Amino acid sequence: MSIRITDSVTWVGKKDWELRDFHGMEYSTHRGSSYNSYLVRDEKVALIDTVWQPFAEEFVENLKKEIDLKEIDYIIINHGEIDHSGALPELMREIPETPIYCTRNGARSIKGHYHQDWNFVEVKTGDRLSLGKKELIFIEARMLHWPDSMFCYLTGENILFSNDAFGQHYATEFFFNDEVDQAELYQESIKYYANILTPFSSFVRKKIEEFVSLNLPLSMICTSHGIIWRDNPLQIVEQYMEWADDYQEDQITLIYDTMWNGTRRMAEAIAAGIREAKPEMTVKLYNTGRTDKNDVITEVFKSKAIVVGSPTINRGILTSIAAILEEIRGLEFKNKKAAAFGCYGWSGESVKMITGLLGECGMTLINDGLRTLWNPDPASIARCVEFGKEIAAAVD
Ligand SMILES: Cc1cc2nc3c(=O)[nH]c(=O)nc-3n(C[C@H](O)[C@H](O)[C@H](O)COP(=O)(O)O)c2cc1C
Ligand SMILES: [Fe+2]
Ligand SMILES: [Fe+2]
Repeated sequence: MSIRITDSVTWVGKKDWELRDFHGMEYSTHRGSSYNSYLVRDEKVALIDTVWQPFAEEFVENLKKEIDLKEIDYIIINHGEIDHSGALPELMREIPETPIYCTRNGARSIKGHYHQDWNFVEVKTGDRLSLGKKELIFIEARMLHWPDSMFCYLTGENILFSNDAFGQHYATEFFFNDEVDQAELYQESIKYYANILTPFSSFVRKKIEEFVSLNLPLSMICTSHGIIWRDNPLQIVEQYMEWADDYQEDQITLIYDTMWNGTRRMAEAIAAGIREAKPEMTVKLYNTGRTDKNDVITEVFKSKAIVVGSPTINRGILTSIAAILEEIRGLEFKNKKAAAFGCYGWSGESVKMITGLLGECGMTLINDGLRTLWNPDPASIARCVEFGKEIAAAVD
């Protein structure tokens, strides 16, 4: 299938309705994804990005229906990751001499993946490639989200091809942002930012400021995953600026796991205390043993504070809590507060351990945490409620 986007741009990508996990099991894709590839036709023809390797054959077959492959003058690879470069080996078997435009790091990552010495043309920010009446302008986008990432901009049509930035893992029968369910689109966009782009927020801010200062008119943003932003494309740019600015809502999220529900009862009592002290605060509870970790991370992203609980097991913590804390550590959230809680039976190390890990995650600790011997009794529940109030008081 191919879809005409504008007079000169045709979508030749792949919708992957079945995808349920991405980056191995690192990212859940409840709504599938798409790998967007674009054919740009002027006097010269450029292909921008390809698709994930399992769809390589289908991609090349489809592309042949759209154009004689020999008519493709340039291949642009904005990012070497396999979900976009994966069809290159299949394609290059047919047109081995066609130049591949990418950043210096792009040439390295593509060679690193496919071990082929294709005809690479390394480009830098501001370099231009004439297609005839229109031009492609390249903009390096280092660490958005790999060292090799870049954008390119098509003059005349005023389209930014942003690759992973501004994307979503979202398969839909539609192609444009104004055609889809807005709540679904928002949810998939914020999840994508929270789980993939958070550590690179300072790069996001700088890149957007740089792009805005170029004063290029913008009629569309063609991403490499999900929909194309055509209705007010600046809305996602402005949204990224907000998300990149240590984004927070009035939310406190409790994250816990439990063996016999004692730590869950603590969580519920702490939540009640927070609500009592600050009724306007959104309070959400997630058992990490039962919840998709990327959905939990999206809630952490939105939170001013997180309260993390685990019972002590074998002088340590439950593995789902260890796992989510490792995830949180890597994402380098800024400007968030935190505290720990949990039940124990004898040695009771979990709360101290979680508190230490939250510190390593760069969280500001509200207190030393709260632990409860065995299953909480009414007095311990009352202490949890007070603990919740203390947390609410520490969060503006
Ligand atoms: C397999 C297992 C190992 C445990 N190891 C420890 C331990 O090393 N130190 C400790 O203080 N309590 C330990 N406990 C006791 C639990 O922390 C205690 O039962 C607690 O109340 C459970 O909280 P929960 O209801 O939230 O699961 C262990 C319990 C189990 C089932
Ligand atoms: Fe990527
Ligand atoms: Fe991607």
